Amino acid sequence: MVFSRRAASSLVVYVFLFHLYILHLVDSQCPRQFQCGNLGNLEFPLANSPGCGLLPVDCGAQPNPIIHLDYYPFSPSYEILKKSSPNELFIRSTFLERVLHNNKEICKLFFHLPMPPSPSISISLFPNITLFKCLKDWNYDNEVPNFQEIYGNYDGCDFFDIYYPKSNGSLSPPKDCSVLPLPGNLQYNSDSMDLFQRLGSDCLLKWNVSDDCRNCHRKGGNCTTNMKNEFRCDKGTIGL
Ligand SMILES: *[C@@H]1O[C@H](CO)[C@@H](O)[C@H](O)[C@H]1NC(C)=O
Ligand SMILES: *[C@@H]1O[C@H](CO)[C@@H](O)[C@H](O)[C@H]1NC(C)=O
Ligand SMILES: *[C@@H]1O[C@H](CO)[C@@H](O)[C@H](O)[C@H]1NC(C)=O
Ligand SMILES: *[C@@H]1O[C@H](CO)[C@@H](O)[C@H](O)[C@H]1NC(C)=O
Repeated sequence: MVFSRRAASSLVVYVFLFHLYILHLVDSQCPRQFQCGNLGNLEFPLANSPGCGLLPVDCGAQPNPIIHLDYYPFSPSYEILKKSSPNELFIRSTFLERVLHNNKEICKLFFHLPMPPSPSISISLFPNITLFKCLKDWNYDNEVPNFQEIYGNYDGCDFFDIYYPKSNGSLSPPKDCSVLPLPGNLQYNSDSMDLFQRLGSDCLLKWNVSDDCRNCHRKGGNCTTNMKNEFRCDKGTIGL
């Protein structure tokens, strides 16, 4: 087969233009804002395109858009009920709704523990209650004074016990326990209430993007981490 020089060079030009076109497509993958169901416009750190933000959102989900919180991988998704402010969403865990009707399911919460917090963003839930997954049948009375007065206990899981603060306010985790913050119940006000009355399915999600990540993002960079979970800015990958 014989190509004329001219045909060959226009092929080169064509391939070059095609590449530019592809690069452009990749570049514009991350919109500055996006319309999300009935929530109106959302923006970074939320994202509905893969790889674009820190908190992935699925706007096409029914009946409500869904947000994925990597820190709570037991249930990848929370429904978004309302946008409360530029950095607050009112969310619902359908998994916790089920747990509140079927206590045993709470054990599944601990199958996958939360990932270490990202240096790029901090998130909090209001109200919240922190659960501790601890060794089964371990006696903490000698290690923590008044243990049974300040920590409530749920022992319905096969391989571990769950403890939680009996009063609102935070407690440090007993020794060798893992920590899982969950939405709390707005109505609770008595120390005598059990774990399932203290949990709630709805809460306010608030986030705060670090200054480093905000600056990185403003310049079109991608906030990532290195192997040690330290902040890293990958320059110019997002292309706004
Ligand atoms: C940003 O970084 C994350 C994590 O390394 C990656 O998964 C994602 O694809 C990157 N996004 C872009 C647009 O490069
Ligand atoms: C839990 O709520 C308290 C205040 O009520 C807040 O200071 C804390 O950051 C919250 N923790 C999480 C993990 O959301
Ligand atoms: C505990 O929660 C109740 C009801 O939300 C509130 O009235 C009370 O002030 C809280 N106590 C503490 C110590 O935070
Ligand atoms: C958000 O994070 C910045 C630093 O990363 C901090 O200075 C600021 O106080 C935080 N704001 C809130 C509301 O937590």
